[in-house]
Amino acid sequence: MLTAVVGAQFGDEGKGKIVDFLASKADVVVRFNGGNNAGHTVVVGDKTYKFHIMPSGAVQNKVCCLASGVAINPEVLVSEIEMLKKTGKRFKLLIDSRAQIIMPYHILLDGAKESKSKNKIGTTKRGIGPCYADRAARTGIRFGEFVREKIFREKLHAVLPFKRKELNSYGIRCPSERTILAKYLPLAKKLKQYEADVSLFLQKALKQQKRVLLEGAQGFCLDNDFGTYPYVTSSRPIASAALASIGISARLLERIIGVAKAYCTRVGSGPFVTELKGKLADFIREKGKEYGTTTGRARRIGWLDLVMLRTAARVNGFTELAITKLDVLSGLKKVKVCYAYRFKGKTLKEVPANTFELAKCKPIYREFEGFEIPERMRSVEDLPKEAKAYLRFIEKQCSTQIRLVSYGPERTQTLRI
Ligand code: IMP
Ligand code: MG
Repeated sequence: MLTAVVGAQFGDEGKGKIVDFLASKADVVVRFNGGNNAGHTVVVGDKTYKFHIMPSGAVQNKVCCLASGVAINPEVLVSEIEMLKKTGKRFKLLIDSRAQIIMPYHILLDGAKESKSKNKIGTTKRGIGPCYADRAARTGIRFGEFVREKIFREKLHAVLPFKRKELNSYGIRCPSERTILAKYLPLAKKLKQYEADVSLFLQKALKQQKRVLLEGAQGFCLDNDFGTYPYVTSSRPIASAALASIGISARLLERIIGVAKAYCTRVGSGPFVTELKGKLADFIREKGKEYGTTTGRARRIGWLDLVMLRTAARVNGFTELAITKLDVLSGLKKVKVCYAYRFKGKTLKEVPANTFELAKCKPIYREFEGFEIPERMRSVEDLPKEAKAYLRFIEKQCSTQIRLVSYGPERTQTLRI
C-alpha cells in the first residue's frame, strides 16, 4: 500500500505531524524531494523533534528512506542521525545511491545569488537551488560517488575550478579542495553503511504488502513547475513527482493526502493573494508560532486560499485532505476564506499559470462566524457547528473529503473523520 502525504500550500502545513500520526500504521517512511530546507516538527508528549532531512517516521522507529530525488547535506544528516540515536531511536535508514550531495560551494552560491539579486527569492540559503542546478547540468555529485573516496576525489577535483570561478564572480572565496575533503571524507565514512537502491527496496516492500508512506517536503505552490515561479523551490513537491523520485511505477500510488493549514502562510518572496497585514496577521503568527523551523524567519500570514487548494487538489489528485492548525483560528470573531480570484474583471477558480497575472489577482471572500476549538475532542461531533460549516465549505469547493483534522501540536490532538 503506497500513500503520499504532500503539502497543498507553501510548505509548513504540518506534514510532519500528519506523517507521524499515520506512521504507527506504516512500515516504511520515505522523503522524496528537497533537502534540509525543510523543517518538520513532531511533538510527542513533552518531547519535540525537529527534522530537516530525516523522514519523520524515525520517531516511531520505522524504516526510513531518502530517495533519489533528495538533496543531502551530509553534515546535517549525520547530526540528525546522532541526535536520534542519543534519544534511543532504533530506525533503519536507506539512502539511494542516486541522491545528490549538497556541497559547501552550493551553500555559498545560494547565499551569494540571494544577496546580489534584485529579485530575491528568499531561499533558505541551504544550497538547494545550486545543488539541483548541478544535477540538471550533470555536474552534481551523487551519494554513491560521495561514499567512494577515489571517485569522490576525482569528481570534486573536476568540478571545483568552475565553482571557484563562479564564486569569485560574486567576490567570494571558494574553500580549497583540501578543506572540503577534510570535512566531507569523515562524513562519507559514517554514511556509507546506509547506501541502498531505494527503488528496488521499495518495490520488494510493496510486493510483500508493506505499507509505505511518502513524506513530501515544501508544498504545491513551491513546486518548480506548478508553483509561483520563480518564487519556488528547485524540487518537485507534487505527488506525481514523488513516483519519479522513488523509482516506483505511478500505477502503484493509492492514497494521496493533501495537507493544508486552516489558514495560509508563506516564507520568502512571491505572490500571496490572501495575505494579511497588521494586528490580525500578528495574532495568527503568535498563536500559530509561525516562525520558520529552518531559518527562524517570521512567516507571512493570510486567509485560507481555496483557489490554490482547488488547483493543488486537481494537479495532485488528492484522494483526501488533512486540515491542520484549526485551533489557531479559535477566538476570532469572523473567519474569511477565499474561494475565487478577481482578475481584470473576470472571476478565476484556478490559479493562473502566469505568476505575473497571479500577482494581480484579488481575493473574493466568504465570511464565516468564528469558533472556539476545545482542547480535547473525542470525535468530530465535538466540533462547534461554525467550524463544521467552515470545513464543509472547504470540502465542497475542492471536491475532496477531509479525513483528518489536527487541532493542536500533540499526536492525540487529531480527529479522524
Ligand atoms: P529554497 O528551497 O531554499 O531554494 O527556497 C525557495 C523558496 O522555498 C523560499 O521561498 C523558501 O522560503 C521556500 N521554502 C523552501 N523550503 C521550505 C519549507 O520547508 N517550508 C516553507 N518554505 C520553504
Ligand atoms: Mg516546515
